[in-house]
Amino acid sequence: MNEKLSILNSKKEAALLGGGAKRIENQHQKGKLTARERLHFLLDEGSFEEIGMLVTHRSTDFGMEKEKYPGDGVVTGYGTIHGRLVYVFSQDFTVFGGSLSETHAEKICKIMDMAMKNGAPLIGLNDSGGARIQEGVVSLGGYADIFYRNTLASGVIPQLSAIMGPCAGGAVYSPAITDFILMVEHTSYMFVTGPNVVKTVTHEQVTSEELGGAQTHASKSGVTHFACANELEAIHHLKKLLSYMPQNCEEQAPFEVYESGDEHRPKLNEIMPENANQPYDIREVIEEVIDKDSFLEVHKDFAENIVVGFARLAGRSLGIVANQPAFLAGVLDIHASTKAARFVRFCDAFNIPLLVFEDVPGFLPGTDQEWNGIITNGAKLLYAFCEATVPRITVITRKAYGGAYDVMNSKHIGADMNYAWPSAEIAVMGAKGAAEIIFKKEISSAEKPEEKWLEKEKEYSDIFANPYRAAERGFIDEVIEPAETRIKLIKAFKMLENKVVNIPRKKHGNIPL
Ligand code: HXC
Repeated sequence: MNEKLSILNSKKEAALLGGGAKRIENQHQKGKLTARERLHFLLDEGSFEEIGMLVTHRSTDFGMEKEKYPGDGVVTGYGTIHGRLVYVFSQDFTVFGGSLSETHAEKICKIMDMAMKNGAPLIGLNDSGGARIQEGVVSLGGYADIFYRNTLASGVIPQLSAIMGPCAGGAVYSPAITDFILMVEHTSYMFVTGPNVVKTVTHEQVTSEELGGAQTHASKSGVTHFACANELEAIHHLKKLLSYMPQNCEEQAPFEVYESGDEHRPKLNEIMPENANQPYDIREVIEEVIDKDSFLEVHKDFAENIVVGFARLAGRSLGIVANQPAFLAGVLDIHASTKAARFVRFCDAFNIPLLVFEDVPGFLPGTDQEWNGIITNGAKLLYAFCEATVPRITVITRKAYGGAYDVMNSKHIGADMNYAWPSAEIAVMGAKGAAEIIFKKEISSAEKPEEKWLEKEKEYSDIFANPYRAAERGFIDEVIEPAETRIKLIKAFKMLENKVVNIPRKKHGNIPL
C-alpha cells in the first residue's frame, strides 16, 4: 500500500505544481496569482474539493503526447463561500497558457452540469490564451459545449466570471453569456480580435489595454460590470455579489440579520434642490434609504445616467434601479436602457425584489440615439419591467416625464406600490416645452410673447408639475414625506413577500434584442 500511496502522492504533487516553478514565478512577476492561489482566497478555508485533478489531454500531434500536465490547465471542483456551496473553475496559465483543450473543456462542462443538477452558483476564473492551438477543432467544440451549458444555466443558477488574464477570440462568449463579469485592471483584457488583427484590418494602432482592458470595458462597452484594482479586490467583489443572490432560481436570497431601529430619515427631506432643474446625487437618496453600507453598485462607470446595484433593506436583498439627475439630468438613453434592462432581468430571474427611484426628464433626443436604435433599446427596459414578476416598488422623487414615466416601473406595467414625494412632477413633458406647443398661437400673438410664455408655463406647471393628478387616479398609491421613505418601503416589501403572478403560458417571450 505504501508504494501505491506514494504513486498517488507524486501524481498529486505534479498536479499541484501546474506548469512548474519557473512558470509560476513568471505568473507572479506579472502581478498575477496562480489558479490555486485564487481559489485559496475565494473559498472558505479547507472547503475546496477538487474534481479531475489527474485529467490529461489526449492530443498526439506536434509531440504533445510527451508534454502532459495533470489537470490540463484548469482546476475544477466545489467549495463554499460564507458557508454556501459554489462550483468553480480556475484556469491555470502556467499550463499551455491556460489554453482550452478538449479535456480542459470537459472538466469545465462536468462541474457546470453538477452546478445545474445541484442548484448552486458557478464561478469561472478565466486566464487563458484561448483555444489550444495544437488541438484544432476539438478545442472549438469544447468552447461550444461550454457556451451551450452557459445558456442552459442562464436564469437557473447565478454564473459569475472573473477575467484575470487574457480572454480573447471566441473565448469571450462564455463570460459574455454569464450574469456578471469582473475584470482586473492592467492584467486582464477581453477582445474578439487583438491589436495586431485590428491594425491589419482597420489600420488602427491600439494597445491591448486600450482595446479591451478593464477600464475600457467598464466605461466604454459595458462588457464588464466591475473593474477591480487587483485580483484580491475582484475576489472580494465576487464574494460580496454572491451574498445578495439565492443559490438558484427556486430559492430566495439569504436574509441578513437586522434589528429594527429608528427608520425615520429626516435627511431625505433636505436632499431635493429648490430649483427642479438643479442636479443632486441619487446615491445620497439610496444610501439614506437602505441598510447602512449595504449598496453594491453594478456597472458604476457605464451609462452613469442610471444607477443600478444590490442593496439590503431591513436585511432583505433588493435590486435598485435609479435615474441619476447628477449625470445628463438622468435622461434615458441607449446604454442606460440596456444596462438597466439586463439588471432587472437578472433580479427577476433570481427572485430579488426591485426598487426604483425615478427622476427622469425623458428619453434622450437626437440623431445619434435614433439612428442607433433608442426605439429598440428603450423597449428592452420597458419589456424587462413589464415581464418582471418579483415585488416591484417605485418612488418618484422628482420628474416622471413622457414615455419614461411609463417605462420606469409605473403602476400600469405591473409595479406593486408606487410612491411619490411631494416634489414629484408627473406629466407628458416639462412645463416650458408643453406651454410652447399647446399655447403656440397665444404666445406668438401676445404683445409680450416672453411674458405670455412664462404665464402659460406657470399655468401648466400648477396643473401638472405635481404628484396629485396621478394620485387622484390611483397611479400613485401614496404621496409621502421623503423622511418616511424607508419605513414605507420596509413595510411594503414585507407585505409583498408572498407575491404570486402568473404570466401567460408561452415558450419564451421575444424581448426586442
Ligand atoms: C497553446 C498556448 C496558447 C494556445 C499560449 N500558449 N497560448 N499554447 N495554445 N492558445 C502557451 C505558449 O506557447 C507558452 O508556452 C505559454 O502558453 C505562455 O505563453 P506566452 O506567449 O509565453 O505568454 P505571454 O507572453 O504572456 O502571452 C500570452 C498570450 C499569447 C497573449 C495569450 O500566448 C498568445 O497570443 N497566445 C495565442 C492566443 C491565440 O491566438 N489563441 C487562439 C485564439 S482563437 P510555454 O511552453 O512557453 O510556457 C480562439 C478561438 C476560440 O481562442 C473560439 C471559440 C469559439
